[in-house]
Amino acid sequence: MDGMTITAPARIEESADVDPRAAIGAGTSVWHLAQVRENATIGEGCIIGRGTYIGPGVVMGDRCKVQNHALVYEPAVVESGAFIGPAVVLTNDHLPRAVTPAGELKTAEDWQPVGVHIREGASIGARAVCVAPVTIGRWAMVAAGAVVTRDVPDFALVAGVPARLLGWVGEAGTPLEPVGRDTYRCPVTGRTYLQRGERLEPHPSTDDPSPAQKWPFDDLPRKNNPI
Ligand SMILES: CC(C)(COP(=O)(O)OP(=O)(O)OC[C@H]1O[C@@H](n2cnc3c(N)ncnc32)[C@H](O)[C@@H]1OP(=O)(O)O)[C@@H](O)C(=O)NCCC(=O)NCCS
Repeated sequence: MDGMTITAPARIEESADVDPRAAIGAGTSVWHLAQVRENATIGEGCIIGRGTYIGPGVVMGDRCKVQNHALVYEPAVVESGAFIGPAVVLTNDHLPRAVTPAGELKTAEDWQPVGVHIREGASIGARAVCVAPVTIGRWAMVAAGAVVTRDVPDFALVAGVPARLLGWVGEAGTPLEPVGRDTYRCPVTGRTYLQRGERLEPHPSTDDPSPAQKWPFDDLPRKNNPI
């Protein structure tokens, strides 16, 4: 995986239930009573909190934090540096039913899972729900208790039910300050950003405070209309 090399072995608490077919990266901690299902891939240096659920085949990058009792249902994709707060839910069934119209219990063949994609560095606040299919943009921040039903642009701060744009945040997570027409500045890193329509992007003349991450999801199609 990208970033610095971590050599410490993964730490998996005895009470955690990690399927032998899951891959856990070096330096990752899986805390008490967490469940990591078959074929999930978790990168290096992550923290998987107590009582979390990571579904089959979920893909997670490096240095992610998944807080206590978060539910990451497959086929979620979580890029490096993402923060998933306590009791967050990433859903995977847009129109859920337990049974078919005939009253039979639905099986895996009876429904089509849809996933949440959390991009590099993004944060999902406590008890937020991301309703799949939806993409949370790079370094975006979802407020505690939000329900996200539309794609969230990079660097966006969104809140509420349904989540709406409140403003913009930088890589440090601090709200950006307007410094001119369509221009914002991070009070922590000093980086400036340009707003183009409904999108925000770093000003080309400013340094990236986080080194470029090589991550193979750049070309994935967007699944939803943005907020
Ligand atoms: C959204 C958040 C980042 C905003 O922080 P902030 O920039 O300091 O903003 P403020 O607290 O000044 O609030 C700005 C406005 O947004 C509202 N707001 C703040 N948090 C909100 C939330 N979670 N949902 C809805 N509205 C919220 C405030 O009421 C305020 O509205 P007002 O201007 O009408 O009074 C923060 O409140 C939050 O939810 N952080 C996530 C915390 C979390 O879940 N941590 C996880 C680890 S425990």
